[in-house]
Amino acid sequence: TIEKTLAIIKPDAFEKEYEILDTILRNGFFVLNKMKIHLSPEQASEFYEEHYNKSFFSRLIHYISSGYIIVLVLGKQNAVLDWRNLIGPTDSEKARESHPHSLRALYGKDKEVNAFHGSDSLESAKREIKFFFPNLVEEPVALEN
Ligand code: CMP
Repeated sequence: TIEKTLAIIKPDAFEKEYEILDTILRNGFFVLNKMKIHLSPEQASEFYEEHYNKSFFSRLIHYISSGYIIVLVLGKQNAVLDWRNLIGPTDSEKARESHPHSLRALYGKDKEVNAFHGSDSLESAKREIKFFFPNLVEEPVALEN
């Protein structure tokens, strides 16, 4: 089935936006929505609230609010899993060893500065899309004849 997922091009990869969008399209994704935004630390904390207790939380918030990001709603069959496969493992250094063609292998630095985000489930995708695009209708409205 066709799914939507939320993708983020993080500050460290922001300048490569067009090259990355080209790769995204060549991999069969449709860009349904796109926004350039500079998150405040407060907004970033809300987005990453599930990581609040992690040791890396404050570094993550500092990183993600350090500059512009590109937020994308991507559509495709199995978009959630396919996007996570395209970006590769969280740790960019490990990605370079095990998934050398993945986006994190190509653009990320390490496990923290990893250039991309992808929703980890359909449920997360729904929450994350709503976070950035609160006015989007959830399902296509059926046309009456
Ligand atoms: P992301 O997929 O956006 O989800 C949470 C982010 O936290 C992750 O990408 C990394 O940027 C960061 N992160 C995850 N694990 C670690 C870790 N062990 N140390 C530091 N940062 C991490």
